[in-house]
Amino acid sequence: MQEIGSGKRNQALPERVLRKERTQTVTDIGTIEQHATLPSAVEIKGHPFFLIKKETGYSLVSRICPHAGGEVEDDGDELYCPHHYWRFNRESGEGIFPPNCSLRAFDVTVEGNRLIAAYEPPTPRAMPSIPSG
Ligand code: FES
Repeated sequence: MQEIGSGKRNQALPERVLRKERTQTVTDIGTIEQHATLPSAVEIKGHPFFLIKKETGYSLVSRICPHAGGEVEDDGDELYCPHHYWRFNRESGEGIFPPNCSLRAFDVTVEGNRLIAAYEPPTPRAMPSIPSG
């Protein structure tokens, strides 16, 4: 797991690289080579994430389950929460079961060969309904 220490952005990086919300922190999460195998587990200031790569580029997804705060794991086929087995697409973080609930995702840009993320510490969301049947 890649441990990110300070959570502070390198001051040498240009401000234009990320669209950042006021509540987000920008941090350098390492080089592309350090995350060659995806999804890559990343911990930023004690908060767990997965770095993933979508068709549109890299993303940082929270590993905190939106159901009730379990820590999401990777089984090689899907991301899943061991508490009540909610499952998520390992290439997007989108919900598989239930389909209406996805892992929280944040933009990551590439600056040279470095990955720069704007993120918020994960928090559990309100429990959505589980489809019956
Ligand atoms: S806490 Fe993750 S499925 Fe319930």
